[in-house]
Amino acid sequence: MKIAAEWANDPETVGVYNPLLQMSKTELEKMYENLTPEDKWFFIEKKDGSKIGYINHSPAGKQLEIGYVLIPSERGKDYGTEAVTIMVDYIFLSKETARIQAHIDPRNIASQKVVEKNGFKKEGLIRKCFFAKGEWRDMLLYSILREEWKEPKILTKTVPEK
Ligand SMILES: CC(C)(COP(=O)(O)OP(=O)(O)OC[C@H]1O[C@@H](n2cnc3c(N)ncnc32)[C@H](O)[C@@H]1OP(=O)(O)O)[C@@H](O)C(=O)NCCC(=O)NCCS
Repeated sequence: MKIAAEWANDPETVGVYNPLLQMSKTELEKMYENLTPEDKWFFIEKKDGSKIGYINHSPAGKQLEIGYVLIPSERGKDYGTEAVTIMVDYIFLSKETARIQAHIDPRNIASQKVVEKNGFKKEGLIRKCFFAKGEWRDMLLYSILREEWKEPKILTKTVPEK
């Protein structure tokens, strides 16, 4: 939890396009305790167990929306793309949702590439839908439908024994 609080309060880590959460460790703990099954946060870990970022899904009406952040030193090494591949597999394997969506700042090229490489399609520009750092911002809406996903790329489905 300590590391999550550090990231939430570090402008370098949240990146230029995300709002700074500015939450204390206690506030974050409270938030995590009250999460619903539609609202989940995961650490992105390397094989050696080091935590290099987080990825989450949250409700968007009856569908799900994803968000993700990597610490600056681990960007540009394909981890973002792989984390989204795993998240998409996880959601379509374990949830009923028909689509997964992501709102992305039009200037955030890395994030657009991450979702495009995972089969998301650009739906359009949502005007002034997001308030961050003192201004209303336009955001691109991306989505992938269950039928476009077709099959898991990394995860596999295990059927529980009866
Ligand atoms: C967005 C983010 C998660 C991308 O993850 P990443 O691991 O750095 O991305 P990848 O290494 O998987 O690269 C994906 C693609 O983006 C490109 N890319 C990476 N950083 C880039 C940059 N700063 N500018 C332009 N393209 C970039 C890569 O070259 C790659 O494209 P390619 O396959 O055509 O070569 C990461 O940059 C980040 O945490 N940013 C700050 C937080 C943020 O913006 N989160 C998303 C909010 S919607």
